[in-house]
Amino acid sequence: MKLIIKKKEEGYGYSATMLPDYDGFIIIKPGFLKYKDEIVKDLKRRDFVVVDVEEKTLTKEEAETIYSCHKGKVFFDELIEYMTSGPCIGMTLLSPYSDRESAIETLQDLKTKYRKRYGVDLTRNVIHSSDSYQSAIYEAETFFNS
Ligand code: PPS
Repeated sequence: MKLIIKKKEEGYGYSATMLPDYDGFIIIKPGFLKYKDEIVKDLKRRDFVVVDVEEKTLTKEEAETIYSCHKGKVFFDELIEYMTSGPCIGMTLLSPYSDRESAIETLQDLKTKYRKRYGVDLTRNVIHSSDSYQSAIYEAETFFNS
């Protein structure tokens, strides 16, 4: 976490807010860990900094929390079964952009690139990337149990 200290716009004084020191979150999915170095190199080339990284096998509860917005969809059980089937790698990332939307957009582009390159099907598709800053916080906190 980083402490953001801002001058209060409405008058005197300062406000302090604790904000995560990352802009996005990705998961390299089970079976695709061999592409980690290639993906990290690509992220660094785009001036992203890896803040936290951890390799682990998600518990059912963690996977269901991360994918809670898809609960009830026909593919939900298959998705959870796959995501808990072996080790994956979670990474929080700090972007070079001043706005968080650009960070999320760039990570979505990266996800698409690797899905096209190495994706097997709709489930086994290499990378998950949070679709908003709010999702990134929710998913990263679940992944890192923080
Ligand atoms: S939706 O309904 O448009 O929101 O779904 P989508 O964004 O395409 O996919 C959400 C995540 O579910 C995975 N997915 C699937 N898993 C198993 N079977 C099927 N048929 C399937 N379709 C989609 C997909 O990989 C997405 O995972 P993440 O990790 O979020 O990219």
